[in-house]
Amino acid sequence: MKTINIALVPGDGIGPEVVAEGVKVLKAIERMDEHLSFSFTEFPWGCEHYLQEGKMMADDGIEQLKAFDAIYLGAVGYPGVPDHISLWDLLLKIRKEFDQYVNLRPVTLLDESLTPLKSRTEKDIDFLVIRENSEGEYAGAGDRLFAGKPEEVVLQTGVFSRKGTERIIRYAYEEAQRTGKTLTSVSKGNALNYSMVYWDEVFEEVGMEYPDVETYSYLVDAASLYFVNDPGRFEIVVTSNLFGDILTDLGAALTGGLGLATGANVNPEKEFPSMFEPVHGSAPDIAGKGLANPLAAIWSVSQMLDFFNEERWGAEVLEVIREIIKEKDNLTPDLGGKASTADVGGSVASMLESRK
Ligand SMILES: NC(=O)c1ccc[n+]([C@@H]2O[C@H](COP(=O)([O-])OP(=O)(O)OC[C@H]3O[C@@H](n4cnc5c(N)ncnc54)[C@H](O)[C@@H]3O)[C@@H](O)[C@H]2O)c1
Repeated sequence: MKTINIALVPGDGIGPEVVAEGVKVLKAIERMDEHLSFSFTEFPWGCEHYLQEGKMMADDGIEQLKAFDAIYLGAVGYPGVPDHISLWDLLLKIRKEFDQYVNLRPVTLLDESLTPLKSRTEKDIDFLVIRENSEGEYAGAGDRLFAGKPEEVVLQTGVFSRKGTERIIRYAYEEAQRTGKTLTSVSKGNALNYSMVYWDEVFEEVGMEYPDVETYSYLVDAASLYFVNDPGRFEIVVTSNLFGDILTDLGAALTGGLGLATGANVNPEKEFPSMFEPVHGSAPDIAGKGLANPLAAIWSVSQMLDFFNEERWGAEVLEVIREIIKEKDNLTPDLGGKASTADVGGSVASMLESRK
């Protein structure tokens, strides 16, 4: 029996609502697979915790999480707590402390009705963005000098280390080689004349070791254009932290919106737990109303299963998500339906079970 120990950090707003549905799906799998089980331990961290305790997570939170195989996170951030505090003191802290330097964000169209792009179908939009997740523009390096004075200066420094740049690019080459797909690097060497020139150099250098991988390299502005007018040219994309963050929201817009966008924060060496989460935030505008689409969070479950070499289940979960979207009668309002968050999660679980 294989047991995967999962720390649940549902967080704020719609986070707990969507995480509950992902857990429902994992429990359904557990019922069907006698060789697989999951243990769940929930942590009450987030903005409410901050308002009561003055901190987003326990002082030894990172130590506590270390014991788990995976973290399943909902969303963090809520009005009343500044976003830079909620983000840096919980989500980014976990990503950094656990060296989750790979962020895997699929841009996959599950049904042609979901894309605003004219005459594009599932075969035109199906790629994986591999985003650097530990440094770059989100390294948190900078300063604010002479605050409030006329000579005020604010610095936000991008940090591109040899180790950090090389390992994400190497990870992407490995993935491209393993899957036989093309690899596209997205950077901005013309304007960011230190960091992105370096990124491009490393991309070429590491590429020498993978002569069989077909590569492309675009500036981020051109890549944004191609995402929209020719998404079929992408198979695997590797890019920096900031560019990956922005491009994958664009990717989400092309494939059904935030309710369907997932992201895995991976420590490939499994030295620390990896974290699986929907890309969306806590959506305070719809929180507590049963309106949140849980499919992004359920897709995270599929990514988690893939990561733990349970690809068969990972693929089944994704297939059921695809099916539920095609059937159309059990979707939340963001996808044009009338179902509640719990209805959708329940349907995914029961459809999975009925496929057995
Ligand atoms: N990973 C994270 O935890 C994360 C990511 C982004 C934003 N945030 C935080 O979330 C809070 C709200 O941020 P925001 O409003 O900019 O982004 P958001 O993703 O929470 O919401 C943007 C819009 O998308 C809708 N939406 C998002 N997820 C949805 C879902 N599953 N189903 C249906 N509709 C959905 C919302 O209703 C809203 O209209 C802020 O505090 C922000 O810092 C957290």
